[in-house]
Amino acid sequence: MARHKDPITALVLEAAARARRETANEPEPGVTGQLAWPVQCTVGPGLEGAIACESKVGYVNGSRGWLVYRGYDIFDLAAHSTFEETAFLLLHGHLPTHAELETYGDRLQQRRRLPKTLRLLPSFPIEELTAMAALRIGVNLMRLNQSSHDSERQRPGVVVERIGTDEDSIPMETLPRGQARAVYEFRPPPPAAPRAKPALSSGYDWEACDRLLAGTATVAGAVHRIRTGLLPLEPDPALGHAANLLYMISGTRPSEQAARILDIALILHADHGMNASTFAAMVVASTLADIYFAVGAGVGALSGPLHGGANEQVLAILAEIGSPRFVRPWVRDMRARKGRIMGFGHRVYKAYDPRARVLQPLTEILARDHRAIRPLYAVAQALEREVVATLGHDKGVFPNVDFYSGLVYRALGVPDDLFTVLFAVSRVAGWTARIMEYLQHNRIFRPRAVYSGDFGLPYVPVAQRAAGTAPA
Ligand code: SDX
Repeated sequence: MARHKDPITALVLEAAARARRETANEPEPGVTGQLAWPVQCTVGPGLEGAIACESKVGYVNGSRGWLVYRGYDIFDLAAHSTFEETAFLLLHGHLPTHAELETYGDRLQQRRRLPKTLRLLPSFPIEELTAMAALRIGVNLMRLNQSSHDSERQRPGVVVERIGTDEDSIPMETLPRGQARAVYEFRPPPPAAPRAKPALSSGYDWEACDRLLAGTATVAGAVHRIRTGLLPLEPDPALGHAANLLYMISGTRPSEQAARILDIALILHADHGMNASTFAAMVVASTLADIYFAVGAGVGALSGPLHGGANEQVLAILAEIGSPRFVRPWVRDMRARKGRIMGFGHRVYKAYDPRARVLQPLTEILARDHRAIRPLYAVAQALEREVVATLGHDKGVFPNVDFYSGLVYRALGVPDDLFTVLFAVSRVAGWTARIMEYLQHNRIFRPRAVYSGDFGLPYVPVAQRAAGTAPA
């Protein structure tokens, strides 16, 4: 096959060819095809193996190490698509026409500007929060921009006509003693209109999806700059999503190569089946809660170290090992301690994570131009060889998406504490796509727990409860 003229596309296609040589992407029975409820499945702790819904958004082939978005192989999307096009595909179910892609790009570009959110964000102690906590505040603040435009989702209740206060008074329901500085007017709610069933996936929700996808990149840049004592940057309308993200973080417009590599990383992270953060977002959305809150729940779940952040820990491990010659004893010691090696293993993949197959050659390219990551990359390659040789085939432990992503982000100038924020910036596509799909046939998620407690205990008044007599 002739090598593609674009070197990065050529690398991704080579990774795809290697994957196709090493494994076949045969859909797994039981987790592909049409679903007929009720479904029989063997469920382990943490809902392992449970089938929560049917979806056309994406498929993770864990046994083979393949990833599909709406029927398209992740290698093809990484090689030929853009994050904007892939987000459109995930959300709307088809690759956009040229006109659709232009319109969508314009919609995102208009919604990337968040003047109100960026004015409010610095009023929070962002520098004292983790970047993910700050992102979550930003996601909630973004909601303010939309609620004023769309009464469809405003809940009937106290209708606040207007609040006028001078800059240092706080509107209160009772007039302040002394100088009545707060001017406010709360009116009794209008006669309760019959409570319309909130529209499922209304115009409000689709609008929210575009605002959330566009705006989380802007919030990510703003969070970093506020935490480093800088003012947030307005997005540059001439730049695409990935390039703007790097620009709003660093303040310099990235090279074409840097923007393309980040764009591919965003494509790779956009969706991944029913992972913890996607499931969390869907559970909140299934109650018909506001979609901004559902995405906030996804951010919260992703902030946990078992889900997000392993790539930061990978860099620390590579630095700790220090040299390829110390890899073997380090792995031997880790295994003796039954420790988990960050960046390896996966609940679903028991084969090489296809995303790591793409991120590894991208790291190779970046290591050539970025002296700082070269020694770390050498250790990473030795560590991958050793872990795959010792745990790969026995336990299905292979590199996952986090093993190389940290090296890529560091080479692109992304600060370590923003790695998981970038994961969220991308995964908003999968979160919102799966929320919108699920809302079409919504059913609130409500699993059961097996009760293993007591029955029939007699109530004892507190005066008669001697210490230590509580039932076991
Ligand atoms: C992500 O769900 C998703 O899709 C997540 C994600 C996404 O895109 O949303 O893919 C993103 O979260 C990637 C994972 C990032 N996290 C890490 O890299 C942390 C390190 N990985 C491990 O914590 C672990 O692999 C998990 C949590 C990811 C999966 O753990 P499981 O499901 O408990 O693994 P398992 O039960 O399949 O383990 C099988 C065996 C066990 O050995 P035994 O008990 O049988 O002797 O493999 C061992 C595990 O101890 N094992 C590891 C290992 N992961 C599993 N041994 C060493 N190092 C590891 N990382």
